[in-house]
Amino acid sequence: VTEPDLKGRHVVVSAGGTREPLDPVRFLGNRSSGKQGYALARTAAARGARVTLLAANTALPDPAGVDVVPVGTAVQLREAVLKAAADADAVVMAAAVADFRPAAYAEGKIKKKDGHDPDPIVLVRNPDILAEISADRARPGQVVVGFAAETDDVLANGREKLRRKGCDLLVVNEVGERRTFGSEENEAVVLGTDGSETPVPHGPKEALAETVWDLVVQRLK
Ligand code: C5P
Repeated sequence: VTEPDLKGRHVVVSAGGTREPLDPVRFLGNRSSGKQGYALARTAAARGARVTLLAANTALPDPAGVDVVPVGTAVQLREAVLKAAADADAVVMAAAVADFRPAAYAEGKIKKKDGHDPDPIVLVRNPDILAEISADRARPGQVVVGFAAETDDVLANGREKLRRKGCDLLVVNEVGERRTFGSEENEAVVLGTDGSETPVPHGPKEALAETVWDLVVQRLK
């Protein structure tokens, strides 16, 4: 039996990966499936929360009893996060947000021209949503959680990122070929600003989600 320890709470979860368009048919994207974010949404709903799931380009069924808001780009995700977070008790940024987007959008499909080299793709920075909502909390005591995929020096890079982003908890996992993306399983360490370090052994994404909510509930009290 699941404890309804998130009853009366509103939680916001972002999931999936943003897509940054180059022209009407092409985009810069990433391999995030959205499965971890959906597991977070499902488990929060099971624990009694009202859940807003901001879904960036996912192909997963809407979890029952969850308010799903589809988004495309990082800029659209930022708008949706700011709106949903206004009355939220916790925000979990599980989505893979593109750090950069193409500087220009071609209204027509970009064509290859015989005898010409392709134009380079110029990128500009996207807003850092996690850093922004952490620095400027929509309500006092709101708990903000980030995710960080690292390929090396996972813990040291994670600590540094936790400080830089200003969130309360950072879920750090090691990524590489065949790991994490699209998989049903995950393995991570959750770092807290209080110095805590909660290891989550390799297992279903639901198990990591439950640990994240346990740590959020502790901080909501
Ligand atoms: O800096 P990095 O992309 O590794 O940080 C990952 C965390 O920051 C994730 O929680 C992601 O959702 C969030 N993020 C964001 N806005 C960005 C880039 C990342 O909110 N532009």
